[in-house]
Amino acid sequence: MKPLATQICISALGALVLFSGCRGWESAEPPVHLNQNMDTQAKLKPYRNSEFFADGRAMRTPPEGTVAQGKLKEDDHFYRGKANGELVDAFPAALPMTESLVNRGENRYEIYCTPCHGKAGDGKGLVSKRLPVQAPSFHSDYLYGQKLGHFYDVITNGIRSMPAYSHQITEADRWAIVSYVRALQLSQNPNAFAKAAAEPQATEESEATAEPEAPAKED
Ligand code: HEC
Repeated sequence: MKPLATQICISALGALVLFSGCRGWESAEPPVHLNQNMDTQAKLKPYRNSEFFADGRAMRTPPEGTVAQGKLKEDDHFYRGKANGELVDAFPAALPMTESLVNRGENRYEIYCTPCHGKAGDGKGLVSKRLPVQAPSFHSDYLYGQKLGHFYDVITNGIRSMPAYSHQITEADRWAIVSYVRALQLSQNPNAFAKAAAEPQATEESEATAEPEAPAKED
């Protein structure tokens, strides 16, 4: 072997021995931390105590009336399904009812609503059978007559014995579910909405201008 090749071999072997010893060795000493970076800066961690503040808590309550950046949730229609305090009957401008919204809604509906309301929205989910108050079918004159904002509000805040889902489902996904519930309703009874749309007119305008009632449903 040439002297240079021998030298390279020896240093490669030396490096191997040097580094192979570093992992897996037990030691009672703290690990060598060459690059401290900003790891040991003075800071307060969540749920820790602090001597700096009089109440001894590191976590601070935001001053009254303040809102974190980007958390104002000003858009009543999108966040609460309301406009001027009334439930809306339209999708938010930024979230029109498109095929992809309905598809997303189907996906979320099958996770969050099917156990009680059933795949077809008929209220025959397995969990519903064991509830003291059964989940209703979406295919009723009462629910055909409800505004889109009502469905959004029910998901957000719950209703009577149905719990709220706002902590699990984002606003956009709630609207997606609303679009899918509407699609389910239409799939079971396409004529229902002609009737529901005609009803409020009949109370406001003269009977003569109101559209004739849609044929009665079978169920
Ligand atoms: C744990 C079972 C359960 C789940 C899950 C559930 N619901 Fe309900 N839902 C109910 C029950 C029970 C009622 C009837 C409440 C009552 O009358 O006390 C109800 C009522 C409703 C109503 C009728 C409200 C009215 O105006 O009377 C709508 C609409 C509705 N649910 C939508 C949904 C949607 C959308 C989802 C999925 C995000 C969902 N529910 C998930 C149990 C459930």
